[in-house]
Amino acid sequence: MQRFIENLPKAELHLHIEGTLEPELLFKIAERNQIDIPFTSVEELRKAYDFDCLQDFLDIYYQGANVLQTEQDFYDLTYAYLQKCDQQNVRHTEIMFDPQTHTDRGIAFETVINGISKACADAQNNFGISSYLIMSYLRHLSEEEAFKTLAQSLPFKNKIKAVGLDSSEKGNPPSKFKNVYEASVKEGYIPLAHAGEEGDADYIWEALDILKIVRIDHGNNALQDDKLVQEIIKRDIAMTVCPLSNKALQVVPDLKKHPLKKMMELGLKPTVNSDDPAYFGGQVNQNYITIQEALKLSKKDLYELAKNSFEYALLDKETKASYLAELEAYYKSNA
Ligand code: HPA
Ligand code: ZN
Repeated sequence: MQRFIENLPKAELHLHIEGTLEPELLFKIAERNQIDIPFTSVEELRKAYDFDCLQDFLDIYYQGANVLQTEQDFYDLTYAYLQKCDQQNVRHTEIMFDPQTHTDRGIAFETVINGISKACADAQNNFGISSYLIMSYLRHLSEEEAFKTLAQSLPFKNKIKAVGLDSSEKGNPPSKFKNVYEASVKEGYIPLAHAGEEGDADYIWEALDILKIVRIDHGNNALQDDKLVQEIIKRDIAMTVCPLSNKALQVVPDLKKHPLKKMMELGLKPTVNSDDPAYFGGQVNQNYITIQEALKLSKKDLYELAKNSFEYALLDKETKASYLAELEAYYKSNA
């Protein structure tokens, strides 16, 4: 099973680039930028990665991101992630980045996007991995702040495929961002959002009906509401599920009770993703491996999950078809 997963062609659709910052690289960048961090070793830092809830994690995640300052930092961070994609047969990835985490510290939007997108271009050339960028608004900040970020992004519009919504979910419903989503769509960005990770099903309804999202990040709590499940199926919307994240943030404390298999049985379209792999104990393949073991998934289930990852990627039809053909061929000869 492990080998089957490792060689399975797949796409990753839920990944925060700031969440790929491994302690080793964090220390290296902190040192070259002469930034003091409140940890003395990689081991001590890893020990702090013990979370009770989403907010617990976010506090550490934003602290970690503070070391990122130069275009080179963003390049190194992104290229390190893309090298891991290459090693894991991730053929396509849709990378979220949080501009406000950086611009609020005085780092230029341009510095962030140029570093990230140069690494993506190099990975396309060196490994043949395709990638899109998803600019995510921080939902604990105001809609007005999100509008500022939208304005800053416009000179780089050709480098950004979609907008997302992340950070502290409870108390920050999708409806808070109605206007900035309308404006983002007018600029050509595809609307996506985190919903139903800690928030209830009504947050998913809002993300669908008010933000008009075409894919749900997480979406676990959709299962609270049968009518919502039917609506998601009717609209043919996928969910980017993140098993190790769910475990680390106590969204699903026991992976044997994870809803992934139930989602598939109901006719939903889940995908498997790593969210913030440096913090949650595993890259995307480890997410597949862990959830396969917990739920006793079959090769056919794993194939379906990888198929969803390509079918619900934001790719054009032809590219999608070519990745799906690659997956079909793999499944046929390894089933
Ligand atoms: N949820 C919300 N915000 C985030 C996450 C997440 O899983 N990861 C990084 N920012
Ligand atoms: Zn996320």
